Amino acid sequence: MRRCEILSMASVSLFLLLPLFFTASAQQRQSNIRLDSSLTPTTNSSWLSPSGLYAFGFYPQGNGYGVGVFLAGIPQKTVVWTANRDDPPVNSSATLLFTSDSGLVLQEQGQTTSVISIPQSASSASLFDSGNFVLYTADRDIIWQSFEHPTDTLLPSQRLEAGSELVSAASQNDHSAGIFRLAMQDDGHLVQYPVGTPLTAEHSYWASGTNGQGNNVTLNLGHDGHLYLLNSTGVNIKNLTKGGYPTKDSIYAMRIDFDGIFRLYFYNLTHNGNWSVLWSSSIIGFVSVMQNNWTAGCERNFTAGSCKDDNRDIRIRELSNTGWEDDSYSVLSLSIKEECERACLQDCNCDTAFFNDGQCRKQRLPLRYGKRDVGLKLRFDQGWQIHIHHRQNRA
Ligand SMILES: *[C@@H]1O[C@H](CO)[C@@H](O)[C@H](O)[C@H]1NC(C)=O
Ligand SMILES: *[C@@H]1O[C@H](CO)[C@@H](O)[C@H](O)[C@H]1NC(C)=O
Ligand SMILES: *[C@@H]1O[C@H](CO)[C@@H](O)[C@H](O)[C@H]1NC(C)=O
Ligand SMILES: *[C@@H]1O[C@H](CO)[C@@H](O)[C@H](O)[C@H]1NC(C)=O
Ligand SMILES: *[C@@H]1O[C@H](CO)[C@@H](O)[C@H](O)[C@H]1NC(C)=O
Ligand SMILES: *[C@@H]1O[C@H](CO)[C@@H](O)[C@H](O)[C@H]1NC(C)=O
Ligand SMILES: *[C@@H]1O[C@H](CO)[C@@H](O)[C@H](O)[C@H]1NC(C)=O
Ligand SMILES: *[C@@H]1O[C@H](CO)[C@@H](O)[C@H](O)[C@H]1NC(C)=O
Ligand SMILES: *[C@@H]1O[C@H](CO)[C@@H](O)[C@H](O)[C@H]1NC(C)=O
Repeated sequence: MRRCEILSMASVSLFLLLPLFFTASAQQRQSNIRLDSSLTPTTNSSWLSPSGLYAFGFYPQGNGYGVGVFLAGIPQKTVVWTANRDDPPVNSSATLLFTSDSGLVLQEQGQTTSVISIPQSASSASLFDSGNFVLYTADRDIIWQSFEHPTDTLLPSQRLEAGSELVSAASQNDHSAGIFRLAMQDDGHLVQYPVGTPLTAEHSYWASGTNGQGNNVTLNLGHDGHLYLLNSTGVNIKNLTKGGYPTKDSIYAMRIDFDGIFRLYFYNLTHNGNWSVLWSSSIIGFVSVMQNNWTAGCERNFTAGSCKDDNRDIRIRELSNTGWEDDSYSVLSLSIKEECERACLQDCNCDTAFFNDGQCRKQRLPLRYGKRDVGLKLRFDQGWQIHIHHRQNRA
């Protein structure tokens, strides 16, 4: 089974337009953006950081454009922060304007939308080579910074604070909010949950095991790829990676991907090729059936031990217009497929479950499949089959 490739493999060009030498020491440089500066999607579409590595501005999204911070210095133009992520893309007639009183606003067809709203007047803005976009007062006090409002990605020197969370994107190319999150909890625990579930253990699908370590634990990413948790006295309480990776000509980014796994990525700027995965949270994971295409469905592949000595794998498959004889032995009302999956997993009689429209139908093998209309567009909400695969004999 192929792992889903997460970052764009689309354009591997053989040259970089921008300086190759980005090192940790260059991370503090910043560009200055003056009041009343503006951007439009087609001309002057972004403000660059001094080295040209990062850009703030318009990037292609759907049929139009989104606004955010992206890696401009690599062919993949990877988006690392998104403004108003659930707003529809804007078209080429939009203008992004930096004003003193309103912060950043988007004007389109006479309508004004706030992109970054600010509690006090701004005087300047900067995009750093770290990827942090910052708004300042006239006294150069920070009013707002993108590093404090992460969407799905953490960059080196950025931290995820207690009480905040990252939410996955809907798909590789759609940066609107998806269905998984990574929460840095107030109890010191770093936990992954589907969106929309209570923050309780039975809904989690990955956890750092650091609960009870104080109320201000932060997730940190260092310039050498060190991904770790600090407690409020600054003591390292857990390493997710040990770090010590090369810093020269290297970019690191941690992201909770649309498949629900969070990964630490590395990009070699001199090699100019691909993102590679240095570490991932996926003991448990969703794997796209079709590369790069979450909407096409996914399979879930993990081992769980909740049925005595039963060593079982789970597969979740989205079914398009598939029907079968309904010989369910139990029908539960549950709101999301992960709950249905859990219900099936915890029930040693359950071999498969079909989840659709809030109903979880648990079934035993063998299933008797009915018709399958191929050629219909698969949709995320059409229903999911959760299949428990037995790797050992039952107890
Ligand atoms: C692009 O922005 C720069 C700096 O804000 C400005 O001087 C220039 O006139 C703009 N160009 C266009 C085509 O708007
Ligand atoms: C942009 O969208 C507006 C409607 O929101 C439409 O009136 C306008 O023609 C579009 N402009 C372009 C260049 O597509
Ligand atoms: C941070 O961790 C260290 C080492 O475990 C511990 O001594 C210290 O009390 C912790 N700080 C807090 C605020 O929990
Ligand atoms: C929270 O912890 C970080 C270190 O992880 C520390 O820099 C910060 O000052 C702490 N904040 C509070 C309010 O204790
Ligand atoms: C984490 O890794 C660092 C080296 O990067 C090491 O100094 C530290 O002792 C490790 N901490 C823990 C809790 O393993
Ligand atoms: C990056 O790529 C260059 C050229 O292929 C190679 O020499 C170098 O070792 C690579 N660096 C890392 C950290 O992988
Ligand atoms: C990019 O990654 C793919 C798949 O991992 C690999 O086949 C290809 O050689 C890589 N390209 C470069 C330039 O490293
Ligand atoms: C994703 O899958 C859907 C359904 O099979 C298909 O319509 C769509 O074109 C695919 N998107 C991409 C980018 O392959
Ligand atoms: C799940 O993944 C593991 C490791 O990648 C693999 O060995 C196993 O066959 C997979 N199980 C299923 C049911 O696909």
